[in-house]
Amino acid sequence: MRIAVPREIKNNENRVALTPAGAKEFVKNGHEVFIQRSAGEGSGFSDAAYQYAGAEILPTIEATYETGEMIMKVKEPIAPEYDLIREDQLIFTYFHFASHEPLTKAMINSKAVCLAYETVEKQDRSLPLLVPMSEVAGRMAVQKGANYLEKPLGGRGILLGGVPGTLPAKVLILGGGIVGTQAAWMAAGLGADVTIMDVSLPRMRYLSDVMPKNVKTMMSNEYNIRNFLPSVDLIIGAVLIPGAKAPHLITKDMLREMVPGTVLVDVAVDQGGCIETCQPTTHENPTYTIEGVLHYCVANMPGAVPYTSTLALTNATLPYALELARTGWQEACIRFPELKSGLNIIRGDVVYEAVANTFDLPYVPVSYYLNHIS
Ligand SMILES: NC(=O)c1ccc[n+]([C@@H]2O[C@H](COP(=O)([O-])OP(=O)(O)OC[C@H]3O[C@@H](n4cnc5c(N)ncnc54)[C@H](O)[C@@H]3O)[C@@H](O)[C@H]2O)c1
Repeated sequence: MRIAVPREIKNNENRVALTPAGAKEFVKNGHEVFIQRSAGEGSGFSDAAYQYAGAEILPTIEATYETGEMIMKVKEPIAPEYDLIREDQLIFTYFHFASHEPLTKAMINSKAVCLAYETVEKQDRSLPLLVPMSEVAGRMAVQKGANYLEKPLGGRGILLGGVPGTLPAKVLILGGGIVGTQAAWMAAGLGADVTIMDVSLPRMRYLSDVMPKNVKTMMSNEYNIRNFLPSVDLIIGAVLIPGAKAPHLITKDMLREMVPGTVLVDVAVDQGGCIETCQPTTHENPTYTIEGVLHYCVANMPGAVPYTSTLALTNATLPYALELARTGWQEACIRFPELKSGLNIIRGDVVYEAVANTFDLPYVPVSYYLNHIS
């Protein structure tokens, strides 16, 4: 198969969908790999590294889309790319269709096969192509929080781990899923006094088994959260209720109960945030302060560490991409049911029910395409 990787053109997107190591795997398996010139630059991978791995460098985005039978990307295609996508081409990337009607319509019109990273879902309901980005954001949340706790950056001037003879900072993590767990490991490693609040008892049982001594778990409810506020230094919002907006666990009036210089990192900002005063921010302008409490609410945290994020993402996507190239998308989706749930649009039909419902479009069950292999 001919696999082509365009350079990401969405603002501030520095990740790339394939590393030179991934390109080598494709070539080793008899496929051809085409990389748009400088596609890997933002993540630290040179054209020469791809060429060394056996890939061919193409000069333009047009040539890249023209050449590939499978297009591998990171972000959803944006308007200038719509017309470059053609019938029967397989597009493997994040799409987030439900939040973008023009993109959905454009992909229907293209008659391409759209396999979305974010809906690849295993039987245990885990989302293997979203997990790596949650891992990055969780770890980064502590790095950012520790930084903003410094006085010159607006924090109350406390060192996360303290030093002998002083108490460490108190960190409260709301939500003990992927983001919360990774944040807890980092904060605990730096010596902070960490509490994870969740509503799932089985999850908290698991966490108290595996976490170090300086991490405690506590039931998440308003009473417990309020009790924490006067003494907490850093709060990390990491709650997720699948398919719903995040609940506001910290309301505006609660900010007055915190010490000025307390830092809130709301990682759940992409689902509306679990802090009522959360507003999406950018890496260029990441923070703002309300009632003396510093808020960090960057919606694409992994974008700041493209090298790590690219490796983490491609570690998860490559095995699926190799299978798609080896057998074609229909076979691969039959062999790997999680890939099947990634199919969103096929040859003009919406095959993902939630997307069809969101835009009142006709829904065609994906089995129609998998039972009639062409
Ligand atoms: N800002 C970013 O760059 C970025 C990057 C990755 C992920 N995220 C977001 O981070 C959030 C967390 O993602 P995740 O992968 O850790 O999700 P997850 O499903 O692994 O974990 C969510 C946890 O929240 C818990 N929870 C639900 N309701 C709760 C409540 N009322 N109080 C406390 N806990 C509660 C659940 O039991 C679960 O353990 C999501 O909104 C995700 O989209 C943001």
